[in-house]
Amino acid sequence: MEDKNQGSASKPTKGITRRSFIRGAGLSTAGSVLLTSNALAFDYKEQATVGKEFGPDAITIKMKVNGIVKSLSVEPRTTLASALRDHLELTGTKVVCDRGSCSACTVYVDGKPVNSCMMSAFDVGEKEVTTIEGIAKNGELHPVQQAFIEHDASQCGYCTPGMVMSCVHLVENNANPDLEDVKNATRGNLCRCGTYPHVFKATLAASKKTI
Ligand code: FES
Ligand code: FES
Repeated sequence: MEDKNQGSASKPTKGITRRSFIRGAGLSTAGSVLLTSNALAFDYKEQATVGKEFGPDAITIKMKVNGIVKSLSVEPRTTLASALRDHLELTGTKVVCDRGSCSACTVYVDGKPVNSCMMSAFDVGEKEVTTIEGIAKNGELHPVQQAFIEHDASQCGYCTPGMVMSCVHLVENNANPDLEDVKNATRGNLCRCGTYPHVFKATLAASKKTI
């Protein structure tokens, strides 16, 4: 998926490994402070302190998730995926490869799909995070979620939340997607159970009900 912070399995990211990401987390957080300090507002003053070093102890950050601002205490190296799952109990986001290869951990950051295992929680700053738990509205499943059920587009389910996030993003940004559009939208989402034909049918069916 083009919008994601990392490439798909067929085109692995060059030069960044899981280990180097963790090792460089402190560096990247300092960089983000410098880059975004002018734009930060409300409760992000702590993160916005130019030149301040954090870690290795936990720090308190604020993060807007599914429309609600949450406060959490995390080590600076904590990934967004871990912050969601281990600190906010939003376990709908799945971690499978934990290295940016499968997109099981897809969430939106300011409306764009990202692999949350490859983003520092600290780097979210004032951007808004949307998880699979925030896709249904007023107790009603999103048409894509409903279509996944009707078209049997899930088996073990590990890839499903990330797959749904990619497909929802497509149908909400393309009024009339075709099969190639769906394949492109999900090309980073690996499904070991081989549900792709069902995912494609479900998404095309849902697109007719979405916009
Ligand atoms: S890309 Fe994040 S768990 Fe695989
Ligand atoms: S449903 Fe099992 S990995 Fe996709």
